[in-house]
Amino acid sequence: MTKHTYHWWQTGVIYQVYPRSFQDSNGDGIGDLPGITQRLDYLKDTLGIDAIWLSPFYPSPMADFGYDVSDYCNVDPMFGTLADFDLLVKETHRRNLRIIIDFVPNHTSDQHAWFQESRSSLDNPKRDWFVWRSPKADGSLPNNWQSHFGGSAWEWDSVTSQYYLHSFLKEQPDINWRNPMVKAAMFAVIRFWLERGVDGFRLDVAHYIGKDIDLRDNPWIPGINLEEHKDHLYMAQNHLYDKGDPYAHEVFREFRQLLDSYSSERPRYSVGEIHIFDWKHWASYYGENLDELHMPFNFALMVAPWQPQSLRQVVDSLEAVLPTGAWPNYVLGNHDTPRLASRYGKENVRLAALLLLTLRGTPTLYQGEELGMENVDIPYERQKDPYGLNVPGFGRDLCRTPMQWDATPTAGFSSAPIEKLWLPLAGDYQQVNVQVQSNQADSILALYRQLLALRKTSTALQWGDYQPIDNVPTSCYVFLRLAEGQKLLVALNFADQLVVLDLSTLGSGNLLVSTELDRQGRIDLNHLNLRGHEGVVISLSS
Ligand code: NOJ
Ligand code: CA
Repeated sequence: MTKHTYHWWQTGVIYQVYPRSFQDSNGDGIGDLPGITQRLDYLKDTLGIDAIWLSPFYPSPMADFGYDVSDYCNVDPMFGTLADFDLLVKETHRRNLRIIIDFVPNHTSDQHAWFQESRSSLDNPKRDWFVWRSPKADGSLPNNWQSHFGGSAWEWDSVTSQYYLHSFLKEQPDINWRNPMVKAAMFAVIRFWLERGVDGFRLDVAHYIGKDIDLRDNPWIPGINLEEHKDHLYMAQNHLYDKGDPYAHEVFREFRQLLDSYSSERPRYSVGEIHIFDWKHWASYYGENLDELHMPFNFALMVAPWQPQSLRQVVDSLEAVLPTGAWPNYVLGNHDTPRLASRYGKENVRLAALLLLTLRGTPTLYQGEELGMENVDIPYERQKDPYGLNVPGFGRDLCRTPMQWDATPTAGFSSAPIEKLWLPLAGDYQQVNVQVQSNQADSILALYRQLLALRKTSTALQWGDYQPIDNVPTSCYVFLRLAEGQKLLVALNFADQLVVLDLSTLGSGNLLVSTELDRQGRIDLNHLNLRGHEGVVISLSS
């Protein structure tokens, strides 16, 4: 295949911006849209990514920090205005970057006008826009579904004496996508943003929009000890009926047609947040004829143990199951997941960068990972995330702390006094920040920059085939990326100690990047030294 058959969302690298924590422009201690606009040059010129994905910025009571939307077609005053959004789109495009926004299809906020109307009476025209049920004849809950954030998924509403469904917080009522008027209203929202110039959507918990039509009970995981899981029964069920009903495919096909109808001038894109680890089932969200989502997010690498065989197994099995023409993708971190440096250990963050940016498929990179930011230990009283407050241990604030730009008192994030920042800063921000790392030849940022620059110019990395290499030391993961005219070898050593690889059948090559950033030149592959936690990309001669 030649380059023109690949789209920006295939060749590019996506960078996730969590607006609350990226850059505050007006000194209230909370990041905002003008703040993001101010930092676009960093993303384009310093770092070198291709597209940004913005987590929600819509009007919201912020019960789940914006994933509880009270108006899909506006900007929360905390984040700015629609004019600020338009300027952000313009400035993004001016730099030849793309902009993807979060779309939250499964639930609104309980303050959304649709829900307010829906809850007002049994015969309100919008009653059926949400999922309402009476108790069972014996007075018990409509079914055994659990909220992802703890407790039952049903909330009693005394106004009309029925329960409504909420797969997440009770402030996030689930929408009834089987109602055609709801679907039309949601598609109008999509049109609204496409008209404003967005390049794509990340669909929050995408497959949750398909629910069993009879709302059957989920089976409990056989043999599970319910007592042990009593504080989070969600984890004790097989989620057969509360999400992933095939009806979701029907919606996604229509959604794709809508996106495609806007794609003649430039391709629009969709990625669904779909935590499914059965590959076939997961891949079904591309659509039988690749007519649904451009991709379901692939979280398998993120949840795999950090060791070479497990990581290779994820990649190999994905490669094996991917429908013809479907495009792979990888992600290691996001706003819901502990930081890479804390999960894998600081000694592995460079290796993680090299892996993510050399695999075949679109990488999505979460803000701050390019600095090697660590989890921030936040005292319970200062925690904000409702998940962690409901179910201690599951809190996500630790990876949502302000971006670390420089060594000034609020890390360049805000002009507010430090105690006014919405979440505390990491203790190490004076050393771990963009400014310091921009001036360090061997910083993690320098490595990301180098890898991103390489990826931009390398056909093998952008769309070359992937071919794993067998018979390497057990601490190593080695693979080739092969495009016409370019053959790259990627070799990663996960051990603490040096290993020597004999890859003599591959001849010799030129070292393009090492995680250690201190090597270059010719490499004889019958004797490839990899130091502890070192990864390399080598351009092969033949
Ligand atoms: C997934 C989002 O990534 C997470 O932050 C949010 O809390 C839930 N969906 C509910 O919308
Ligand atoms: Ca602000």
